[in-house]
Amino acid sequence: MAFKDLRDYIKFMESRNKIIHIEDEVDPILEIAEISRRCTYLGLPPLIFDNIKNFKNWKIITNVFGSINNVYDVFGTNNLESITESFLSNLNNLPINFFDKIRSLPDMMQMGKYLPKSKKPDFKDSSITFNEIPALKTWPKDAGRYLTYSIIITKDPSGVNNLSVYRVQILNDKEAIIHWQAFKRGALTAMKYKESGINKIPIAIVNGVDPVIAFTAASPVPPGLDKYLFAGILRGEGVDVHELDNGILVPSHAESVLEGYVDLNDLRLEGPFGDHLGYYTPQDYYPVFKLEKSFTRERPIFHATSVGKPPLEDAWIGKAVERLFLPFLKMIIPDLVDMNLPEYGLFTGIGIFSIKKYYPGQARRVMMALWGNGQLSLLKMIIIVDSDVNIHDVNQVIYAIASTVDPSRDVIVISNALTDSLDHTTLYPPLGSKIGIDATRKFKEELGREWPEELKSDENIVKKISPIIEKIIRKYPPSK
Ligand SMILES: Cc1cc2nc3c(=O)[nH]c(=O)nc-3n(C[C@H](O)[C@H](O)[C@H](O)COP(=O)(O)O)c2cc1C
Repeated sequence: MAFKDLRDYIKFMESRNKIIHIEDEVDPILEIAEISRRCTYLGLPPLIFDNIKNFKNWKIITNVFGSINNVYDVFGTNNLESITESFLSNLNNLPINFFDKIRSLPDMMQMGKYLPKSKKPDFKDSSITFNEIPALKTWPKDAGRYLTYSIIITKDPSGVNNLSVYRVQILNDKEAIIHWQAFKRGALTAMKYKESGINKIPIAIVNGVDPVIAFTAASPVPPGLDKYLFAGILRGEGVDVHELDNGILVPSHAESVLEGYVDLNDLRLEGPFGDHLGYYTPQDYYPVFKLEKSFTRERPIFHATSVGKPPLEDAWIGKAVERLFLPFLKMIIPDLVDMNLPEYGLFTGIGIFSIKKYYPGQARRVMMALWGNGQLSLLKMIIIVDSDVNIHDVNQVIYAIASTVDPSRDVIVISNALTDSLDHTTLYPPLGSKIGIDATRKFKEELGREWPEELKSDENIVKKISPIIEKIIRKYPPSK
């Protein structure tokens, strides 16, 4: 059953003693971020700060996605794949291909329950300004206070709703910079408006919603597919929404809503900001949001996070994305068996994929398909291994690389490709290079001769020595 809103989720977690309340007075300048990061590294449940210096009317929640167990609590299951698998199984009987299925989702009768529904809002006009919001300063050299887990809502000219988590740097009472990277939905929507001569783009910045909606906003849902619809699919129930005067739909039960527009003619230097790569992002130009109206609920709760060296919340969000999107990805690339976006791989840094290999050249084909696919195109390194490798065991992956790769044949490097704009290792972000490693066993066409025979024990000998081994193990239990 879906959580109605953030408060409903908090009540659920409190009833299971899974919320840590912090009653000491803490400062949103550096202190809350420091406490939150420490607690995430310790794998603790979500934190609620009840006593915030200079913002006594607010509470702050952090660490909602602070461990894989916290993520399981948000979704009510530790089998995340089953959510999208069961949704896709409903579509399987339809005689159309994957893309047609996705495009025609809103038209399908059985999708009705996932569509957003109009509902009277719980928030009221409050005329708050940016300086009255308990936004965090997360690292000592950050350019200022940031909204770190607010949802930027735009509406594509085609009518598709985009909900996206982009950091927002507060400049003053009425202005803030929106850090949407090239290729993200917000930036793409802005470009479409610009092409038709519109430079003031209606926007809402929303904070404090059902965590499944918050998760959806951070997820790489294919452009064109409405994020409210996708949130409805993950929740099993459509999102309650309210239309603002500027035409943007916002979740009716949000804790706070800022209505305004992004001015594409007003670009300012954003940053520095301590980001999820563990470094300060260098400054760059991004457009400015201008606040026109604001709404809050009674004693509002502000959702925030702090990124930094992994594994912090974004790492566990990445893990959930990996599990929830694998069934979709398998429909597009049927060769795939499993994927691992390792927590320390920075989500866009390293991706490991296993395939069932049937023909020569297959690993490269899969690499190219992955790099041609949504936000996977940002992956800096792709490693492809055979399906018998457990890709969640990094040592097995290292063995696969060491035992199957001839670098001059099996490693490809592509230069000047689109990469994560935060990647400080490249000279001209968002351009950077990519590396693909084919760590599969090679076919004769790939190696030039037969692949050597792998070592395998004699079955009769195994049977015969088993009792001896068992005796040894009983007397000297292995340490792992
Ligand atoms: C805490 C957090 C902060 C993020 N900050 C940004 C950001 O500042 N800019 C950005 O482009 N993406 C950022 N992302 C990643 C986007 O939310 C993610 O790529 C998402 O898929 C974007 O949605 P879109 O496909 O609707 O553009 C952040 C994600 C998280 C979890």
